[in-house]
Amino acid sequence: MTDRQLIDYAKEASVNAYAPYSRFSVGAAIECSDGSVYTGCNVENAALGCTICAERGAVCKAISAGHRNFRRIAVYADSRDYCVPCGTCRQVLSEFAPDIEILCVRSDGRYVSYRLSELLPLTFNSDFLN
Ligand code: THU
Repeated sequence: MTDRQLIDYAKEASVNAYAPYSRFSVGAAIECSDGSVYTGCNVENAALGCTICAERGAVCKAISAGHRNFRRIAVYADSRDYCVPCGTCRQVLSEFAPDIEILCVRSDGRYVSYRLSELLPLTFNSDFLN
């Protein structure tokens, strides 16, 4: 799958975003090691802290379907800036894919690529618990 195809999945997912409070629609598409793709969108709540980001939605769908190995994730927002994952989503991604490639996309389709290890150095992980 090309970067552009994964980005298209993320953009398509953003259409279903439920974002009446922020009016900031986000879509994410995560590519599993077998090539399958799971998407998510942000789902807000009147109790704002209950909001679920697009990335976590996509990860939870993939895990629920039995996938735990991931290659890349694309994050699209209808925004002038490249949309980067929030801290909570970085931590959730790190549980399964500590160095996953993250494509951060803005509304004109341009994107920048990061590794999770760049965005979340010194990660708290399972090593600390053993
Ligand atoms: N949001 C995401 O879904 N992913 C991100 O990477 C950044 C933020 C959502 C959460 C909230 O619904 C809205 O964007 C504004 O913060």
